Amino acid sequence: MHGAVLQKPEVLSQGTLKDGSAVFTVCQLDGSWVDVLYDHYLKVRTDLPAKDKMCLRERNRASFEDHFKKGGIVVGAFVEDRMVAQAALFEPVGDVVPQCYPSVLKGSDLNSYAFFQTTMIDQEYRGQGIVQAMLQARLAFAFEHKREHAIAQVDIRNVASLKVLVAEGFSAFSMDPHPNGDSYIIALHKDVRSGRLARGFNRKIKPKPEIERYGQDASDAGMLQKRFNEGYRGVALTPSGRLVFSAKPRPFRY
Ligand SMILES: CC(C)(COP(=O)(O)OP(=O)(O)OC[C@H]1O[C@@H](n2cnc3c(N)ncnc32)[C@H](O)[C@@H]1OP(=O)(O)O)[C@@H](O)C(=O)NCCC(=O)NCCS
Repeated sequence: MHGAVLQKPEVLSQGTLKDGSAVFTVCQLDGSWVDVLYDHYLKVRTDLPAKDKMCLRERNRASFEDHFKKGGIVVGAFVEDRMVAQAALFEPVGDVVPQCYPSVLKGSDLNSYAFFQTTMIDQEYRGQGIVQAMLQARLAFAFEHKREHAIAQVDIRNVASLKVLVAEGFSAFSMDPHPNGDSYIIALHKDVRSGRLARGFNRKIKPKPEIERYGQDASDAGMLQKRFNEGYRGVALTPSGRLVFSAKPRPFRY
């Protein structure tokens, strides 16, 4: 049972599932949706196989409330009236973000950043293009709100998330041990004011073909970790859609 009266969400974009079976809308949700978002999070996390649970960190309801209090936004994807996915964009305020991104925030103008996090899609709606649509909607939001840097952090074992971000123009700039000590977290950056957003929302950019030459196969988490231990740091996507570790990360100064 939910206490709050749900505010009608603002529609940001629309798409069709890849299998053509339905239309979905991507909407911006406000704080009245906290209970729905938290229930959805619990459902997605419960459905995850045990080995993937670590990719979606443990959260409580208060952290969802806190997100809105600190000016963050959440986009939800709907098929008919059912919310089937959610994704968050954090504003660079409060204590949540600096804890997550200590190396990124050092000495930088916080107001130029937007932090992308916590994407969750119902099991039966994965692989349908919803993840890209929600990412593009948040990038458009960041662009409209004059952000310069989009930052995302991904557990190295979450190859699906990494592939989606890199395909959308993010590039890795650091990799740090997971606070739990059992994995690594890759931080990725995208310049919000250049590239496809600045030139037109849906325009495709081609990955640089030379990546294919120096890339090292990183198509599974074990291989990513092995390459990291060998000194590789950059993550990129080849034109053929392979995830690779390149010898050097793409430069990103902050
Ligand atoms: C992560 C998540 C948002 C991705 O959305 P999705 O709809 O499942 O993404 P897709 O199925 O389109 O996968 C993206 C790409 O990764 C590939 N992929 C998926 N799982 C993979 C795996 N285990 N190994 C290698 N590649 C994989 C897909 O083939 C696809 O590649 P393509 O675009 O070249 O076809 C979704 O799986 C999810 O909600 N997971 C649970 C919660 C989570 O881990 N969230 C991220 C934490 S912030």
